[in-house]
Amino acid sequence: MKFQLESSKLEFFRPDAFGFINGLKKEPPKQKMINLSIGAPNRPTPEWIVEVMKENLSNPAYHTYPPQHGAPELLEAVAYWYRKRFGVTLNPEENVLVTVGIKEAIFNALHALVNAGDSILVPDPGYPTYFEAVLFTGGKLLTYDGDVDPMATLDEIESLARLHKPKMVIVNYPSNPTGRVANREYYDQLSELSGKYGFVVMSDLAYSEIAFDNLEVNSYFEARQNLELGLEYFAFSKTYNMAGWRVGAIVADKRLLDAVKLYKSKIDSNVFYPIQLAAAAALKSTPDSYYRELREIYQGRRDAIIEGLKASGLTFTAPQGAMYVWVSTPEGTDPWSFTEKLYREYGILVVPGTAYGVNGSKKVRMGLVQEFEAMKDVARRLAEGRSW
Ligand SMILES: Cc1ncc(COP(=O)(O)O)c(C=O)c1O
Repeated sequence: MKFQLESSKLEFFRPDAFGFINGLKKEPPKQKMINLSIGAPNRPTPEWIVEVMKENLSNPAYHTYPPQHGAPELLEAVAYWYRKRFGVTLNPEENVLVTVGIKEAIFNALHALVNAGDSILVPDPGYPTYFEAVLFTGGKLLTYDGDVDPMATLDEIESLARLHKPKMVIVNYPSNPTGRVANREYYDQLSELSGKYGFVVMSDLAYSEIAFDNLEVNSYFEARQNLELGLEYFAFSKTYNMAGWRVGAIVADKRLLDAVKLYKSKIDSNVFYPIQLAAAAALKSTPDSYYRELREIYQGRRDAIIEGLKASGLTFTAPQGAMYVWVSTPEGTDPWSFTEKLYREYGILVVPGTAYGVNGSKKVRMGLVQEFEAMKDVARRLAEGRSW
């Protein structure tokens, strides 16, 4: 038998869209590159957060392993935020777990909760880690159409729930990559379905503070009287420009969280204490004006690029939140060749939609991750493109 060096599970990660993008980048494009491929904010972390990190960095008490499930200060700050922002009451010890960002948390939580053969419902298109993590657990991956209004997904989720008795349904609003936002009624109905069919709801709130046109963003837990069968990912990366700090949190039903805590305790030893103190400061010391400005910045970038897309003749859905525009590829092209063309001819680097599921096979994702002027430049280049 042929010796196979790598695990065959690595096939779950292929084709690797970011490997493809990095390959493209080796040759310079005709125009200066504007990178819209990354899903990370381009601005620095606010200084009142960085300061807390600096103040605590040289305290030797923090140089040992941090508490396994998170610093009490951050657990308490997450509970404080949920009360203030969503009116949801949490017990910091029982319902909050600090994580190394939420990408890790998604992978680990699925491993802690899913048995081989369990059906898991995932949005397609959706954040790739959902698909990959489910496949790694041996769970049965079922998808629902994520590229429609959230309310319109509920019938499909219910039919799939009736048929397959899934253990879990993953939802993500504001959505990466579609930019759709769910309202309170959606969560109310989803919560009812969870009660009726007995599935866990895993809600990814990575973009909780980025929504446009004064749209409200809700937490799944606002819809419930209790946390039963619910788990939500709470992120710092996008809201506070802290993608490089690697800190996040899970907020959940105690029974679910105890399972994740046990699993995660075998994988890592949680986040450096001063980073957790800085994250707590983000939640407690950030002025309301910051959140208003954050929305304005991304909305300005969205509006700029939309103007160019309209002039270009490309088809897209204007995002209501998050930091991406989900754009259809022109007739007769696939996302790989269109990505290559946008890069080589126009210097615009995007992600082939296939990275986000089968429903991305005629799409590319453009990130609102450069300053307004650069987004205007993208719009100008797209408007020139017409003859796709
Ligand atoms: C939907 C979604 N969830 C999670 C993450 C990862 O967040 P973190 O930086 O906290 O790991 C991202 C990042 O792009 C995302 O788009």
